[in-house]
Amino acid sequence: MREVRLHVYRGGPEEGGALVEYAVPVEEGMVVLDAIHWVQAHGAPDLAVRWNCKAAKCGSCSAEVNGRPRLMCKTRLSDFADGETIVVEPLRTFPHVRDLVADVSWNYEVNRSITPFTPPTGAPEEAWRWQQEDIERVQEFRKCIECFLCQDVCHVLRNHETRDPFIGPRFFVRSAALEMHPMDRADRTRVLREEGGIGYCNITKCCTEVCPEHIGITDNAIIPLKERVADVYYDPLRILWRKLSALAGRRSTGSGAGGAA
Ligand code: SF4
Ligand code: SF4
Ligand code: FES
Repeated sequence: MREVRLHVYRGGPEEGGALVEYAVPVEEGMVVLDAIHWVQAHGAPDLAVRWNCKAAKCGSCSAEVNGRPRLMCKTRLSDFADGETIVVEPLRTFPHVRDLVADVSWNYEVNRSITPFTPPTGAPEEAWRWQQEDIERVQEFRKCIECFLCQDVCHVLRNHETRDPFIGPRFFVRSAALEMHPMDRADRTRVLREEGGIGYCNITKCCTEVCPEHIGITDNAIIPLKERVADVYYDPLRILWRKLSALAGRRSTGSGAGGAA
């Protein structure tokens, strides 16, 4: 029977970790998660790994396989060449817990900081109307399974390139789903620019390449959000309008130069 050589990261942050080799017999259709389960069942029952659905829908079996963020349950052993070593490591962008498990809880904190869906007050749901294309646009973003592979690969988060806040591609996707919802009335542009750090994204598209749901993260979420932020903050007409409004406000409250005399 054909075997694969699996190098699995073992250990925790305190004692340090290392790659441990396991030879795993291959059966047709096996995925990397099957191979990890085989290792657990044959000599390493304490190997820590997170998984739930084994159907690429729960987002919990994320890991780095040969350096690329992937779902272990969606990565077939047949994708690798005969004799190729398969290296399985935890997501490197997040704090390490043990073996293949990383602590992704920071993402849930970020999620809580995003203004939720804000429908108009006084308009009952049965009166809401919108176009099919509006539904399709936000539906793409709702396919996200929160695997955080995009967060893991993003160089801004991975290399801690900024000390300023940066929420990462997953939460630009969530923000886009809300901002582009035709019945949403909240404005998240200031938060995206300041707490969200959207300006740090330089559209490398690495996040889009690893998304198992094939969401157009950069083209369909991040770029339109950047355009909204640019419209609000850098459109000369809007800047002029803001200045005139501020001036008018000062005059009406008597706090301008003349009023203060
Ligand atoms: S496109 Fe932006 S968010 Fe996506 S990986 Fe690159 S820098 Fe990060
Ligand atoms: S946007 Fe894609 S890669 Fe990112 S968390 Fe959602 S499903 Fe995963
Ligand atoms: S086990 Fe659910 S996505 Fe892999």
